[in-house]
Amino acid sequence: MAQAALAREIRTVASIIGGRPETAAPGGRSSSRNPACTAERVVDVLLGDASTFVSACRAARAAQPQWAATPAPTRGRAIQQVGRLVEANKDALAGLVTREMGKPYAESLGEVQEIVDTCDFFLGEGRRLYGQTVPSEMPDKQLFTFRVPVGVAAIVTAGNFPVAVPAWYLVPALLCGNAVVWKPADYTPALGAALAELFMHGGLPDGVLNLVQADGAATFEGLEQALEEGLVDKVGFTGSARVGSRIGELCGRHLQSPCLELGGKNPLVVMPDADLELAVEGALFSGFGTAGQRCTSLGTAIVHESVHDEFLARFADATERAPIGDPMRDVLYGPMISERFLDGFLAWLERVEAHHGLFGSSGVGRIDAANPRTGFVGEADAGLFCHPTIVDGIRPEDDLYREETFGPIVGVASFADFEQAIALANGHGYGLSAAVYTSDARHAFRFRERVSAGMVSVNNSTSGAEAHLPFGGNGRSGNGSRQSGVWVLDQFTRWQSMNWDYAGRLQKAQMDVPDVPADLGFRLAE
Ligand code: UN1
Repeated sequence: MAQAALAREIRTVASIIGGRPETAAPGGRSSSRNPACTAERVVDVLLGDASTFVSACRAARAAQPQWAATPAPTRGRAIQQVGRLVEANKDALAGLVTREMGKPYAESLGEVQEIVDTCDFFLGEGRRLYGQTVPSEMPDKQLFTFRVPVGVAAIVTAGNFPVAVPAWYLVPALLCGNAVVWKPADYTPALGAALAELFMHGGLPDGVLNLVQADGAATFEGLEQALEEGLVDKVGFTGSARVGSRIGELCGRHLQSPCLELGGKNPLVVMPDADLELAVEGALFSGFGTAGQRCTSLGTAIVHESVHDEFLARFADATERAPIGDPMRDVLYGPMISERFLDGFLAWLERVEAHHGLFGSSGVGRIDAANPRTGFVGEADAGLFCHPTIVDGIRPEDDLYREETFGPIVGVASFADFEQAIALANGHGYGLSAAVYTSDARHAFRFRERVSAGMVSVNNSTSGAEAHLPFGGNGRSGNGSRQSGVWVLDQFTRWQSMNWDYAGRLQKAQMDVPDVPADLGFRLAE
């Protein structure tokens, strides 16, 4: 009886195109499950296919001119209302984040707050969106610049930040007068539906935001077709470097430069003069928060040889004692996001080599009755939980040094001098986030100058970017695009310049410019 009641409550969500839910399921049906309790189905979803994606782009194309013609302060008002709605639904949305992808509830509340912060920032941008007046080299002529919306933005996001990261794209894209097609992660369909509904209830006209529930392959095919048909003007993608480079190639064929936010192998350098307690706290949060499934997660702690043993001992001890388990309770981290992430993480553990030492838990791999974790919070067998693993003895040639692992695994390497620390911090070719722990300002500034990362933390962990600073990476972490704050405006607008000549005759630039007579042979008397 209770089970039947539970079953009746499960919602079915679908793509939303032009304001209407799609009732067909050409991509099949699927459902998401609570990764902390896999017996619990969260939502059923009707999946679209490539043609669903293309239809969504057509609807966006049709709605965009009207939206672009809406005064920017009015678009800002819609964004303000979205922010207020998200705030009013904070607990419900955060609860759903935890239920559908498993991050601890406190982190989910932070994630929802990040949407509110983003709306708060951009609602005012609706009254700015400044262009410039620029002096002309000729009289009776004025120069101006204007920000013009790009058109239709196709946004594809991951499920580790299932609502905050989409909002980093959606909010500025919409504020700038673009229409959007959003494809959330296929393992967080309920969150895709919930966030889209909040935006639509905030006052967006039909077709200005379209939601596509589909898998990755169908999305890629749909994107290919939509670009071919000229329906998409900007692509935003957050996900793996592998898929990011395919998207970059595809966009390049259409002379487009996508906004790519890809993975990281984020270093945390501990100098000999660091506050070790602080460094351990930072390593614990950025290494294991969200079960290591953030793109800003700590990859390798790079520790000066004089403090290596002490850092490792303290880090291992803190990790062993950290509460892990039920994400609705006060834990460092909960389950892996889904089976796919669990399998990926277990495969990474195979790359542990003979020269490595393992620390941090009473076991390695999945936590269950046969492989328990001392102090586990809740019921391990019910969900997709993994032991935290610290791998000491990381070397530059190790797979675990070179590749993003996306799971609760942190490498530890040691260095003798600053040059070596920099070489280790940059050598894998990612460049998203990097941290240095030091009490010497020279180390902090030299590190900032030399590290290849787009985001640098001093005495703070690699995770936890604030919502109004530029977010993004270099090298294998992205193509140099930046999200958040005023910097993202360059992703969702294009500069248009205008010159207005009221001289009443043709004045030719560079040719009809008044000169300034000067005596350039003049020299001071010796
Ligand atoms: C991501 O992992 O895709 O800085 C984004 C942080 C978060 C955002 C991470 N505010 O860790």
